[in-house]
Amino acid sequence: MKKPDNHILVIFGASGDLTFRKLIPAVYDLHKQELLPEKFAVVGASRTDLSDEKFREKMKDGIKKFANYKEDNEQVVNDFLKKISYISVDTEKKEDFQKLKNHLLKLDNDLGTDGNVIYYLSTPPSLYGVIPCLLGEAGLNNNENGSWKKLIVEKPFGYDLESALELNKKLSKYFKEDQIYRIDHYLGKETVQNILVTRFSNGVFEPLWNRNYVHHVEITSVENIGIENRGGYYDSSGALRDMVQNHLLQLTGLISMEPPSSFDSNAIRNEIVKVFQSFRPFNGRDIQKYSIRGQYTSTTIKGEKVPGYREEKGVEKESRTESYVAMKLFIDNWRWGGVPFYIRTGKRMPTKVTEVVIHFKRTPHFLFSNQNQVNSCNQLILRIQPDEGVLLKVGMKVPGQGFNIQNVNLDFHYSDLSNAYLPTAYERLLHDCMIGDSTLYQRADAVEAAWKFVDPILKAWKNDHNIPVYGYPAGTWGPEKADEMIEGKNMTWRYPCKNLEGDGIYCEL
Ligand SMILES: NC(=O)c1ccc[n+]([C@@H]2O[C@H](COP(=O)([O-])OP(=O)(O)OC[C@H]3O[C@@H](n4cnc5c(N)ncnc54)[C@H](OP(=O)(O)O)[C@@H]3O)[C@@H](O)[C@H]2O)c1
Repeated sequence: MKKPDNHILVIFGASGDLTFRKLIPAVYDLHKQELLPEKFAVVGASRTDLSDEKFREKMKDGIKKFANYKEDNEQVVNDFLKKISYISVDTEKKEDFQKLKNHLLKLDNDLGTDGNVIYYLSTPPSLYGVIPCLLGEAGLNNNENGSWKKLIVEKPFGYDLESALELNKKLSKYFKEDQIYRIDHYLGKETVQNILVTRFSNGVFEPLWNRNYVHHVEITSVENIGIENRGGYYDSSGALRDMVQNHLLQLTGLISMEPPSSFDSNAIRNEIVKVFQSFRPFNGRDIQKYSIRGQYTSTTIKGEKVPGYREEKGVEKESRTESYVAMKLFIDNWRWGGVPFYIRTGKRMPTKVTEVVIHFKRTPHFLFSNQNQVNSCNQLILRIQPDEGVLLKVGMKVPGQGFNIQNVNLDFHYSDLSNAYLPTAYERLLHDCMIGDSTLYQRADAVEAAWKFVDPILKAWKNDHNIPVYGYPAGTWGPEKADEMIEGKNMTWRYPCKNLEGDGIYCEL
């Protein structure tokens, strides 16, 4: 594993939830694996007035709860915490950035971090355009005398196409595109990366991976929980912004991209952008036909009353924000012309699962008695979470008289690699940024292309109240209307369970 250059990691939003639960535990795990540089420091920055000691105490708690190496003894964690300091910074006060500059200069002098800095923006999104400008104005942005400065930006990247363009413009005022790392933690998941490996390290799939052999592709990312305590945020966002524009379109890109010319970050990202640019735009009536939005309604599950979306705290009583989206989209290029991609995401579904299913076409001629049934079920399932793995459903002869066929599973579970260390998504992505590998980060053009595709749907949903918001009882697989989208004899959405092999409409309830 490549060791990063010496540097300082500055986290804006250090008193927040993400720093506590994900970022510092991830940095600690990197430290434990000796993947941090010899000369390294973390600076936490947010408005709250905290001493170094208080901040370290809080971070220790985060490590103890959320790090992969959470069982470590106190002394080992305390040694790591010496690398962390805290500084109070308010974006309303320009002078705070001068204070930050002095703090960084002192640390750099004391430690010898060679002037290299990563700034991590983990603040409310409204500050993503503000902080880079303040850094620029304080002269904290430039790669100078062989040193580098990088900027990691958390999601969301904009609220719609216009705000995404505006944000990219602000970011690019003081930082060059190769200094900017837009993080989508989905891409940091091992199993998402395994899509690339499955596709491009196995000669057997590529000949089938196209319109000649694939009937349709299904991408599902659902949760059994509701919106929890995030009502205020969620109601102004919705599933299309929260999940589809970023995670599900990224998954679609990885599944459908052309083989890149090399494993270089730009070569890969070029291919993903081409997919996004090939999405058939939704116009007028297409929006209602090819996109379904829904909201969960209250119901009783196992004797317990579950509130509907509009009854959740922070949600408007008449809200039309979607907690569920299903879409049918087309990629207009030579590989995928005419192949529907069905994607869906939702809250309060029967289980929590993310997976991709490649449904292959039937054999051209039926030979066996129950061929109908078997042919419709030839599927390759790439399971992102949980029970991560790969499963191929094939028809096999049932032993005995005649030629009866049954579907069987050829499967691989990640858990079978029992001694493999699985880094968290943030660990993987932070390390990638430290070593300058942006492959799994989003480029400006990809973000803009994804928004360009989604924007007409957002606008129509907002402005046209004739487009229905379908209800679905909490704990079910979404509005019935979404079932009508899937075309083909005996074709339905797959109803996945917690375990990769399982399926069935009510399996987790
Ligand atoms: N939490 C997650 O799991 C998660 C996952 C994916 C993406 N994200 C994104 O990551 C970002 C951070 O999420 P979070 O959950 O950590 O949010 P959070 O708990 O609300 O934390 C926000 C942080 O920003 C600081 N802040 C707010 N206004 C500031 C200002 N004017 N100047 C300086 N600092 C300011 C806050 O601290 P002070 O009040 O002390 O200033 C706090 O440390 C969000 O944009 C979110 O969308 C979060």
